[in-house]
Amino acid sequence: MKAKLIAIAAAAMVGMTMAVPAALASPEDDLKAFREYFKKRFPNVPFEDFANGVYAIDPAAREQWEAIEEFPPYEINIEKGKELFHKPFKNGKTMASCFPGYKKGIKQNYPYFDTKSGKVKTLELEINECREKNGEKPLPWGKGPIADISAYLTYLSRGHKTDVKIPNKAAEAEYEKGKHFFYAKRGQLNLACADCHVYYAGHHIRADLLSPALGHTTHFPVYRSKWGGLGTLHRRYAGCNKQVRAKPFPKQGEEYRALEYFHTYMSNGLPINGPGARK
Ligand code: HEC
Repeated sequence: MKAKLIAIAAAAMVGMTMAVPAALASPEDDLKAFREYFKKRFPNVPFEDFANGVYAIDPAAREQWEAIEEFPPYEINIEKGKELFHKPFKNGKTMASCFPGYKKGIKQNYPYFDTKSGKVKTLELEINECREKNGEKPLPWGKGPIADISAYLTYLSRGHKTDVKIPNKAAEAEYEKGKHFFYAKRGQLNLACADCHVYYAGHHIRADLLSPALGHTTHFPVYRSKWGGLGTLHRRYAGCNKQVRAKPFPKQGEEYRALEYFHTYMSNGLPINGPGARK
């Protein structure tokens, strides 16, 4: 199994570099090329179905997954998230005061570039900013209550199409940072996100079939059997960094927020269907 990873690493070093998109391409060009790549790679998968991650390309596993989704393991997390979201802070306000549009669904617009602060804002970042603004302690990133609240807001956003915008040059610079992160080799195995989730999507490593990066972000936070609970996208990023024996970056730090910005932009047009369930 280690051999397989190393074989991927070796093959990735030789033939795959030419598929890295040109640094000067605009985000729109990147998006078009990204979609085209996956359309060619998986011609039988309808565009919308990429929102189902690996189950879009694995009919056998899909059946089991659909059975799981009938009694979703994350249901209780949505309930907990709802409670927390509506529980008054010490000052009497609730989180709803920070997310006025939440009932209609807001997840499809995250992450976004905040022109005032010059920062990429993710939903989890704003959940904690809301708490701090109201005199409460921030929640730990990655899992637990923050993932529950995020699951509740994501659930209310189901069906809306991912719609990440890149409003100006400063935003484009963050997008470029994320893109660079996605295509950069790292760790002892010297593998990029793109090696596993673009060039080798549809191949096995260990017991896993590698999912296409198109549609990756639509279903987070995700309940993973391996985690025995719910986790955020940044928890998953850290896990994938560790798989190639690279040191993970801090959750909600600049690097992962830029990565999320690029990564989610690449799924523009796909419906939000989180929270999700995975092995
Ligand atoms: C050595 C190969 C490898 C590399 C490199 C890698 N991943 Fe993964 N990743 C996996 C495997 C295996 C899984 C679990 C099966 C699947 O869904 O692809 C996974 C799952 C994921 C998922 C969850 C998909 C879902 O539908 O739940 C996301 C998101 C993800 N990876 C993002 C990334 C990002 C971003 C990077 C770069 C920081 C990265 N991965 C690097 C192997 C890799």
